[in-house]
Amino acid sequence: MNLSEARHALQAARRVAVLTGAGISAESGIPTFRDAQTGHWARFRPEDLASPDAYRRDPDLVWEWYAGRYRDVLAAQPNRGHELLAELERQKGTGFFLATQNVDGLHARAGSGQGGGQLVELHGNLSHARDEVTGEVFALPDPAGLTLPPLSPAGRRMRPHIVWFGEYLPEDALEAAQNAFAGADVALVIGTSSVVYPAAGLALETLRRGGIVIEINPDSTDLTRMATFSLRETASRGLELLLGEEG
Ligand code: OAD
Repeated sequence: MNLSEARHALQAARRVAVLTGAGISAESGIPTFRDAQTGHWARFRPEDLASPDAYRRDPDLVWEWYAGRYRDVLAAQPNRGHELLAELERQKGTGFFLATQNVDGLHARAGSGQGGGQLVELHGNLSHARDEVTGEVFALPDPAGLTLPPLSPAGRRMRPHIVWFGEYLPEDALEAAQNAFAGADVALVIGTSSVVYPAAGLALETLRRGGIVIEINPDSTDLTRMATFSLRETASRGLELLLGEEG
């Protein structure tokens, strides 16, 4: 498949399922995880921060890290890639589904989920926290008004509303994503190294049902050899080429 055929397949698709990873937010200045030079995991070991054990060992350190990321993402802006996905959703309406692994909230701020399609955040969101006892989820105050650790209205300590290593994804979000990818005519996989399951397995559902998988990533990934078409581009440039929006 070439770019022109990929563009036409996307144009003709009634049902489009999209999976995004940290790469789509790189152009908003937010570090990815595994990029050697800027990735979070280049400086920290995941198990030292993003795991239940890390939180049990040192909740203050974990909250320091997440509060810092929360401040950073609120200061960041959605970029052209986020905007083009919100535009694609407006074109496809109810046939559009976006699953993101990102916790930065930038898709929602770009309008995704409000154009007739669906947006699910598979790994949670930095702007929310969970009562440690009841699991109830509450929006955090703005960073300026955030005291650590945040307490729920019942006065109990809350933990970040993030899926940590070794934890399960929200059941309903994952099920909705699996159904959307199984039924998709075209799946777009953008800005993810495709190494963290079950998110990384979603595009295989599309392939199994005879759908087309288009990847956008400056580097090749574990998905590349299985993708119907893989565009070696950044998220915004690749989406411009696919949507015929060359600026
Ligand atoms: P990674 O850091 O693993 O991968 C980022 C991907 O984005 C890489 O494949 C880069 O090549 C690509 N990339 C970099 N710049 C890009 C750009 N401008 N446009 C498009 N792509 C670009 O991040 P994820 O795949 O999102 O999970 O990581 C998946 C999960 O692992 C995260 O959600 C997080 C992490 O542990 C949890 O926290 C549960």
